[in-house]
Amino acid sequence: MSTPSALVKVMTDAARKAARGLTRDFGEVSELQVSKKGAADFVSAADLKAEEFLFQELTKARPGYTFLGEERGLVEGTDKTHRWIVDPLDGTTNFLHAIPYFAINIALERDGQVVAAVTYNPVTHDLFWAERGRGAFMNDRRLRVSARTRLDEAVFGTGIPFLGHGQHARFLKELHQVSQRVAGVRRFGAAALDLAWVAAGRLDGFWERDLSAWDMAAGMLIVTEAGGRVTDAEGGDDILAKGSICAANPDLHPLLLQRLKAAS
Ligand code: IPD
Ligand code: CA
Ligand code: CA
Repeated sequence: MSTPSALVKVMTDAARKAARGLTRDFGEVSELQVSKKGAADFVSAADLKAEEFLFQELTKARPGYTFLGEERGLVEGTDKTHRWIVDPLDGTTNFLHAIPYFAINIALERDGQVVAAVTYNPVTHDLFWAERGRGAFMNDRRLRVSARTRLDEAVFGTGIPFLGHGQHARFLKELHQVSQRVAGVRRFGAAALDLAWVAAGRLDGFWERDLSAWDMAAGMLIVTEAGGRVTDAEGGDDILAKGSICAANPDLHPLLLQRLKAAS
């Protein structure tokens, strides 16, 4: 067991507090869904509210840090070496459909490198966190990626392109190359949480394209600190710039990459 540093405590406190509002709003969603108007406006308001809250909390705790959030974009701070990367609600479509698989995400970059990360699922209370060089944890339990070495026993997560988003034909080719060799492929609908699940050994690996920095920044560190390998979908280090990710345990990572390459 590890004691979180003061920095991680700031991040986990902010995530836990923001979760209270989101959990309340999640309770409302199932009611609104059945109404004609639907829950879409309500959910986007919940999303904005959660980010505003995280912006205020993180800025209060570390004045001057730059902030990049999905909703408000980049807010330059006086301190250019530190940047928060925040997705207040990863898994919006799940949230909107009252599917309890979503998370609050906070990563901190120092000189362009993610050094601390938090991914919190307010429904299950799984709080994933990591600090560079100090390991990855779920609540107070140390995380390790899975020990599976063979494709035929592996379960991989992915993201499926949807209306107006992503490369549909390319995804189908990749799915074809992967699915015929593995025990299963899952699409849960929250990339950041999927990455945390790789760190926890629940998924043996994960790949997705056309993601944004806030979908990946926290998970990249959590997987690495749990002993996993993380690259872009071509096997390089340009994850945030390319917007693609391939994460897996060290044995399966090259095999998953090979499958993606076979699709190109
Ligand atoms: C989305 C989720 C989803 C992924 C999408 C992301 P959001 O983030 O991570 O799993 O497939 O590409 O945009 O919009 O729910 O924060
Ligand atoms: Ca997201
Ligand atoms: Ca989001």
